Amino acid sequence: MSERPDRFGVDDIAERAEKAFAEAVDLDALEEARVRFIGRKGEITTLLRSIGSLPNEERPAFGDLVNDLRERILGLYERRKGALSEGAAEEDYFSGDPTLPGRRVLLGGRHVLHQVLRDIKRIFFGMGYSLAEGPDVELDYYNFEALNFPPDHPSRDTQDTFYIDRDILLRTQTSPVQVRYMEKHKPPLRIIVPGRVYRNESPDPSHASEFLQMEGLYVDRNVSLADLRNDMTYFVRAFFGSDAKVRFRPHFFPFTEPSAEADMSCFACRGSGCSICGRTGWIEIMGAGMVHPHVFRNAGYDPDAYTGFAFGLGLDRIAMLKYGIDDIRRLLANDLRFLRQFWAETAGEVFE
Ligand code: DAH
Repeated sequence: MSERPDRFGVDDIAERAEKAFAEAVDLDALEEARVRFIGRKGEITTLLRSIGSLPNEERPAFGDLVNDLRERILGLYERRKGALSEGAAEEDYFSGDPTLPGRRVLLGGRHVLHQVLRDIKRIFFGMGYSLAEGPDVELDYYNFEALNFPPDHPSRDTQDTFYIDRDILLRTQTSPVQVRYMEKHKPPLRIIVPGRVYRNESPDPSHASEFLQMEGLYVDRNVSLADLRNDMTYFVRAFFGSDAKVRFRPHFFPFTEPSAEADMSCFACRGSGCSICGRTGWIEIMGAGMVHPHVFRNAGYDPDAYTGFAFGLGLDRIAMLKYGIDDIRRLLANDLRFLRQFWAETAGEVFE
C-alpha cells in the first residue's frame, strides 16, 4: 500500500524483486536476480535513465521515488544474501560423512589431590570440624612470630622461606591460620584448614617448592592429648582402613607443647616392615601437639581457661601413600597421562 497514487507505475517492482530474491535458491541465482533489478542494465537503472522523457516539473519527484525504490531493493537483496550465506555455512558443517561416529567430548575429572582433600574433608566434617582458609601471601608475624618462632631463631631455618619483603612471605605452613582464626572467633572451635604452602626446597621425589597441607585446630575447655589421639585415630581408620593404628613420638614444634609426630601403621605390610615404610612398620603422617600458651595469648585467648590441640598433615604425602605415587613432582606436572589414571571414580561428578 503506497501513501500516494502510483503516478509512475513502478510500485510493483519492489514486490517482484522480493519474490525473485526469495525464489533464488543459492547465491548464484540471487546474483542473477540482483543484476536483473539493480544491475547496470537492470530495471531500476533503465527507469532512472527514462527521466529525460518526463516534463521538467515531474523529474525531482520521480528521481526521489526511484532512488528510494533502489534502496529498498538493495536492502531486500542484502537480507536474502545473509540468509543464503548462513545456510551455506550450515551445509558445510554437515557435509562430512554423517554415518561416522561423533567426536567424543573429553570430560575432565578431579585432580587426585582434589579427591584426597574431598575425602579427608568429609571425614572431618563428620566429626564436627568446619572449614577455614587463610592467605598464601602471609605476614611474617602470622607465619612465624605469633606461632612462637622468635626473630632470628634457628627453628625458622627448618622452613626455607620465600620472602617477598622483609615482613611479607609465601606461607611455609598452614599453621598461621590458627592465629588468624582465633583472633576472629571465640572458643569452642574446631576447624580444618587446607591450603597451599611454599618452601625454597631443591626439588626431588619427596620435595617440591609448593605443596598442600591441612591444618587442624580444636580449642575448648579441657581438651586433652587423649582427644587428639582419638580424632587422629578415627581419621586414619576412616581414610586408610579400619585396622590402622596410630602412635605418637615426641618431637619439637615452637607452637605446640608438648609436640609430637604421629605415625600410622603401614597399610601395605600391616606393620611387619616393607619398602614403603622403610622396614619400620610405621609411616609418619603428621605433626601435632597441644596449642602453646604463647600462641593462645597472641590470639587473645586466656591459656588458663582454654586448651586445644593442633595438627598438620601433608596432603601430597597422604595422596602419594594412598595411591602409590612415587614422585611428588608428578602432582604438579599436569600430565594428563598421569592424572587420567585417577579419574575413573570421579568421571562426570559435579564439581563443588
Ligand atoms: N606446621 C608444621 C610444619 O609445617 C606442621 C605442624 C606440626 C602443624 C604440629 C601443627 C602442629 O598444627 O601442631 O611442619
